[in-house]
Amino acid sequence: MSTVTISHVTKAFGDNVVLKDFNETFRDGEFVTMLGPSGCGKTTMLRIIAGFEKPTGGELYIDDQLVSGGKTFLPPEKRGIGMVFQSYAVWPHMNVFENVAYPLRIKKQDKAAIKEAVDWVLDTVHLSRYADRLPSQLSGGQQQRVALARALVARPKLMLLDEPLSNLDAKLRESMRFEIKEIQQETGITVVYVTHDQTEAMAMSDRIFLIYNGEVQQSGTPQEIYNHPANPFVADFLGNVDFFKGEAQEGKIVFPAMGGQSVPYAGTLTGKVNVAIRPENLFFAEEGPLSGTLEKQYYLGDVDDCRVRIGDTLLRVITGGYLFSTMSVGQSVRLQIRDMMVFPDDGQLEQMLSILT
Ligand SMILES: Nc1ncnc2c1ncn2[C@@H]1O[C@H](COP(=O)(O)OP(=O)(O)OP(=O)(O)O)[C@@H](O)[C@H]1O
Ligand SMILES: [Mg+2]
Repeated sequence: MSTVTISHVTKAFGDNVVLKDFNETFRDGEFVTMLGPSGCGKTTMLRIIAGFEKPTGGELYIDDQLVSGGKTFLPPEKRGIGMVFQSYAVWPHMNVFENVAYPLRIKKQDKAAIKEAVDWVLDTVHLSRYADRLPSQLSGGQQQRVALARALVARPKLMLLDEPLSNLDAKLRESMRFEIKEIQQETGITVVYVTHDQTEAMAMSDRIFLIYNGEVQQSGTPQEIYNHPANPFVADFLGNVDFFKGEAQEGKIVFPAMGGQSVPYAGTLTGKVNVAIRPENLFFAEEGPLSGTLEKQYYLGDVDDCRVRIGDTLLRVITGGYLFSTMSVGQSVRLQIRDMMVFPDDGQLEQMLSILT
C-alpha cells in the first residue's frame, strides 16, 4: 500500500562506505527481499527506511513524501511503518496480549476491536495459548513471534522485517513463511524483508535484491535471478553452483580440465569463460555430451547426491532418488546438461567468490 523510492542513497560510518549510490523503487504491495552476505548493509538500509539512521547522501520517499533528504528528516513514529528488527524487543513487563495490543491502545481503538485484532494476529502466529504469559516465560522464537504480531496488528501500509524468523526451528519457520506471505497478500502491505536464508527469500518474494559491496548486484523475480544471474557472485549466492573453466569456440565450450571434452554452446561469448552449472541441472543420460566415472553416490531419500570424475574434474550431480539401486560406484556414465550459465573469465572469479567461503 506504500511505495518506497530510494534515490542516490549513500551511507558511510566514518571511512566505511556501507551503501554506495543505492537507487531502487519498492512498488506498492510488493514483497521485496534484500539478500546478501553478513555486513553488506541490509540492516543499515532498513534502518534508513525506518528513520533510525540518516543517510549520508541522497533522498528517500515513502509514497510521494520526502522523508529523508536535504534538510528534511521525518522521525520513525511519523512514517507509519511496522517493523521487526533483528534484535527484536518485546516489553518485559507486559504479557503477550498487551505487548501485541499496544500499538492499537495508543491509537485509542475500542476494547472489542482491540480484542478481535489481537486474537486474530496471535492465532496467525500460533501464540493464542500464550496470551497471558510474560516474555520472560517464552522461548526466543516465541518472543520473536510476539514482535511480529505486534508489527502486524496495526496493519501498517509498509512493513520492514529484518530476519524475523531467524530463531524458529525449521518446521515453524516454513509455516510462518507462508503465513506472513498470506497476510501480505490479503492486506496488500508492502513488505521489505531481510533474510540470510535463500530458500525463504525465493519462497516469499516478488522480487529479490542481492546486495554486495554496497551495491545492488541484481534485482529480479526469484526465477530471474536464480536462472539468469547477472554475475558469478549472484549465481553462487543463490543455490548450489559449481564453476568450470572453459574455452568458448564456435558452437561449443571445451573444458581443458575434463580432458578436453566439450558441450554444445549457442551463446555469443568466445575465448576464456567460466561456466556455472547447478548440480540439479546435470543428469545421467545415455546420449549426454560428457562421459566419466561415477565416483561417489550419497542416498539422501528424495535425491541422490553424486560425484562424477571427468579427467581432473569432479562434477557434482544431484538427481532423482530413484537411481540409487540402478547405478554403482565405478561405472561409466554419461552426463547431459539441462541448463548452464556462461560468464566471461575476467580473472575476478576467485576473489568474488572468496567472500562466501
Ligand atoms: N552504528 C554503526 N557504526 C559503525 N559501523 C556500523 C554501524 N552500523 C553498522 N555498521 C557497519 O556497517 C556495515 C553493514 O552493517 P549492517 O548491519 O547493515 O549489515 P547486514 O547486512 O545487516 O549484516 P548481517 O547479515 O550480519 O545482519 C558493517 O560493516 C557494520 O560493521
Ligand atoms: Mg543485519
